Amino acid sequence: MNSTDTRPVLVTGATGRVGRLVVDQLLDAGVPVRALTRHPAAAATLPAKAEIFTGDLTEPESLDPALRGAGAVFLVWTAPPRTAPAVIERLAAQVRRVVLLSSPHRTPHPFFRQPNPMAELHAGIERLIAATGLETTVIRPGMLASNSLAWWAPTIRAGKAVRWPYGAAETAPVDDRDVAAVSARTLYQRDHAGGDYVLTGTESLTQAAQVGVIGDALGHRIAFEEMTPDEFRSLSEGAAPSEVIDMLLTAWSAAVGQPAYVTSAVADILGTAPRTFRQWAADHASAFEPGS
Ligand SMILES: NC(=O)c1ccc[n+]([C@@H]2O[C@H](COP(=O)([O-])OP(=O)(O)OC[C@H]3O[C@@H](n4cnc5c(N)ncnc54)[C@H](OP(=O)(O)O)[C@@H]3O)[C@@H](O)[C@H]2O)c1
Repeated sequence: MNSTDTRPVLVTGATGRVGRLVVDQLLDAGVPVRALTRHPAAAATLPAKAEIFTGDLTEPESLDPALRGAGAVFLVWTAPPRTAPAVIERLAAQVRRVVLLSSPHRTPHPFFRQPNPMAELHAGIERLIAATGLETTVIRPGMLASNSLAWWAPTIRAGKAVRWPYGAAETAPVDDRDVAAVSARTLYQRDHAGGDYVLTGTESLTQAAQVGVIGDALGHRIAFEEMTPDEFRSLSEGAAPSEVIDMLLTAWSAAVGQPAYVTSAVADILGTAPRTFRQWAADHASAFEPGS
């Protein structure tokens, strides 16, 4: 049975890739939204219909105004873990439902089973939430399709070959819009309480093939050249934390030579097929064009 809760939903990470889309999806469904950001100026990037709250997950008491009177929380945690117990305690005292943006660290596929600090962070937050009486849904996207924007768009815009490690590693990128649509649905439909969903795209594609799909969307071939993991590590210095680089390299290394893990969760929950990576690339082609 579908039952809905019409109290506002507090979206944390509301200015981020997934949270921002969740805000739109909830508003489209007629659900009142509270959007959390640490920076009041970010309000300009959020829809006027969302109520903006300033708060910081590392300062648990700063969340109280946003939590008071809310029915559910979309929880995105990219902050250090130290304040997670105090934040979860506050959530449990104020709201009934939480939908956590986590990762597929329990999924029995080598790509997801390499130990890393992000998996530990997510597992720790899941344990804290499980110890409360909150109605909980855990959303576990695999590789987000939008990662390609950060990874490959600058090189492609510059008209250069994409040089990248583990070109043969296979993933099934999931469209951020599908992740947001599932998250929103589970926030306002209470029959998803207890749900634990691994979200992937439809198709296992090597990283080199993904670059090829972006080239198809642009109407020209993009050359792909293999880079060694050591070169990737040294070129990434200063641009990303070393533990993130190690996490990616070990996951890609483990994913070579076997198909990516693919689930039907997006279709099962939304009743429509997930967007393909080809569709994602077509819809975002302009971001890979020179001068974008
Ligand atoms: N990339 C992937 O392929 C992938 C796959 C599976 C899971 N995930 C998970 O997805 C999550 C990231 O989601 P995303 O990519 O949508 O986020 P994102 O674009 O990196 O944005 C981070 C968001 O977190 C907010 N934030 C950061 N520190 C905060 C703090 N101390 N207090 C309150 N808010 C804070 C930021 O808000 P303000 O700056 O406005 O305050 C921003 O909205 C991570 O948990 C990641 O592990 C990612």
